[in-house]
Amino acid sequence: PLLPVILSGGSGTRLWPLSREAYPKQFLPLVGDDTMLQATWKRVSGIAGLAPIVVANEEHRFMAAEQLRECSVKPLALILEPMGRNTAPAITVAALQALKSNEDAILLVLPSDHVIRDEAAFHAAVEVAARAAEEGKLVTFGIKPASPEVGYGYIKADGNTGAMPVEEFVEKPDLQTARMYLESGNYYWNSGMFLFKASRYLAEVEKLQPAILSACREALDKAQADTDFVRLDPDAFANSPNDSIDYAIMEKTDAATVVPMDAGWSDVGSWSALWEISDKDATGNAHHGDVIEVDCHDTYAYGSKLIAMVGLNDVVVVETDDAVMVGHRDRIQEVKEVVARIKRDG
Ligand code: GDD
Ligand code: MG
Repeated sequence: PLLPVILSGGSGTRLWPLSREAYPKQFLPLVGDDTMLQATWKRVSGIAGLAPIVVANEEHRFMAAEQLRECSVKPLALILEPMGRNTAPAITVAALQALKSNEDAILLVLPSDHVIRDEAAFHAAVEVAARAAEEGKLVTFGIKPASPEVGYGYIKADGNTGAMPVEEFVEKPDLQTARMYLESGNYYWNSGMFLFKASRYLAEVEKLQPAILSACREALDKAQADTDFVRLDPDAFANSPNDSIDYAIMEKTDAATVVPMDAGWSDVGSWSALWEISDKDATGNAHHGDVIEVDCHDTYAYGSKLIAMVGLNDVVVVETDDAVMVGHRDRIQEVKEVVARIKRDG
């Protein structure tokens, strides 16, 4: 059976002022009425054989639990991390937890902050991937790259269709290398979603990252579990190396396999990415909330108050209870400069 593992531990600041450390983007309704976490579960509920394992930070436990309850799903386990140790340990504790309940589960590892527009195409790719996972492969989903984005992993496949052996996996190359990969036409972006048998992943962690496995095993063995949460032991988990699955496992394993996916995927890394994947009016304006655009094109607005825009092009407006952000769509990634100044000056 397919067991979704939903990673919900990140803290996005690139969607400031909406997304914050206390309220990261996975807990927000960025597209439609569901939060990103809820949309992630609903996207797989039809193909999942088991309730999900959700791994989140201790600090966000009530938000995570409440949002799952709202969509009537009782997770197999809601695992709480006392601190972030990145995705390799988070997936390791989930795999260990899975083995406790179901020996042969295939884990479908899902970041909780992605948008996928074409659910049928996503399900079809998962089906192809599940067959490779049954054969002991560590499967990742490859996205056709659109730009030399340096925040992604790059995958060179041996073949053209179906489940293909990975020739090379390079996490976050520099810009020059990313350009080369893009021009060569032979590389995919790593979507950050993975599929493998729990036992197969753990065997790879044991081989490649034994320190992660032993720390995670101890953290789970000593965990405090009640009906709602599994709280990892803080001292044991703190001992785990801090590393992502991409660097720790996928770059190094011989069992990596890639399945191409063309499903309108976006990791919603910025306000302009959100604009790109949103439904737009005839002149390219997209919004979430109560918005009036007069003679505008290619704008994006998000807020709970009425937002009115007149004669603006390529502008992003985001309104929250305590902040308003207005910026040019092409430069909106510089919102990180705002966040840095707030941190510095208070
Ligand atoms: N539980 C938990 N604990 N979740 C975590 C942690 C953690 O310590 N760290 C990150 N996550 C979650 C994030 O919330 C996100 O949903 C997902 O894991 C991926 O983490 P990111 O920090 O967003 O990774 P990234 O964007 O830099 O890179 C990954 O995703 C790219 C595609 O979006 C990599 O897999 C890249 O190769 C990939 O291209
Ligand atoms: Mg990300």
